[in-house]
Amino acid sequence: MSDSLVYLNGALTPISEAKIPVLDRGFIFGDGIYEVIPVYARKMFRSDQHLARLFRSLAAIGITNPHNKEEWLTLIDQVMSAHEADDQMVYIQVTRGVAKRAHAFPQEATPTVFIMTNPIVLPTAKAREQGVACVSMEDKRWLRCEIKSISLLGNVLAAQNAAENGVTETIQFRDDYLTEASSSNVWIVKNGILMGPPTDNLILEGIRYGLIQELCAAHKIPFEARRITRQEVFSADEVMLSSATKEVLAVVQIDDQTIGKGVPGPIYQQLFKAYQEAKAV
Ligand code: PDD
Repeated sequence: MSDSLVYLNGALTPISEAKIPVLDRGFIFGDGIYEVIPVYARKMFRSDQHLARLFRSLAAIGITNPHNKEEWLTLIDQVMSAHEADDQMVYIQVTRGVAKRAHAFPQEATPTVFIMTNPIVLPTAKAREQGVACVSMEDKRWLRCEIKSISLLGNVLAAQNAAENGVTETIQFRDDYLTEASSSNVWIVKNGILMGPPTDNLILEGIRYGLIQELCAAHKIPFEARRITRQEVFSADEVMLSSATKEVLAVVQIDDQTIGKGVPGPIYQQLFKAYQEAKAV
């Protein structure tokens, strides 16, 4: 691991020297939120939307935003500039801070602010060309999945399930309805219509969610947000994932079933191209 510079509570320090107290509520309770922002050619992609979601996450769990937008942009820029890679993924985490261990919010605590960046790891050329396999699982997470919380045990177990099965993602269903994958949103295509689950408390609204809606509108691809059954996923013409690091990625197999023709489909191809164009602006 390279000893890159990270930002922690007011200072830039090498990651090997960045330390937090054991009573940090992030460590004790998973009491915090995070954000992952892709960076291309040293420029954040969709930074306004990512910062707006960071602010929503803080508000959702009652942490006073420690910085205004300008300050956040300056802090992120410092970390980004210190890294040698042009294409990065910036990770931001804010916890409720350090306090004596008691579940309810402490009277006084200063939020812990951590920012790091790493070279972005995008899907391989093979994954792009051939699509990827996934497995399915019942969604056993809590009912506030719209918050980008650092309490990610349910997501960790779903990701581990994918890893143990040698596939890219675990696609989750709650009561027979599609929710999302361990760290990405899931989309299906049927008869030329791109569909995704509604943005309610059962999924994290990815920054790519709004982007995909915009790309669909621009390319005249009909879009519907609605509840999607397990059966509809398995019989879809196309399935795809989206996230900051997967961008859009075709799924050609779930469990032991082939999706569509077993190759990345035409709507995926169109969205992938449109995504690359949006990035380059
Ligand atoms: N994950 N759903 C979940 C549960 C996620 O963790 C993510 C992102 C998404 C997609 O959101 P976005 O389009 O904003 O990346 C959906 C990030 C990349 C992560 O945890 O590393």
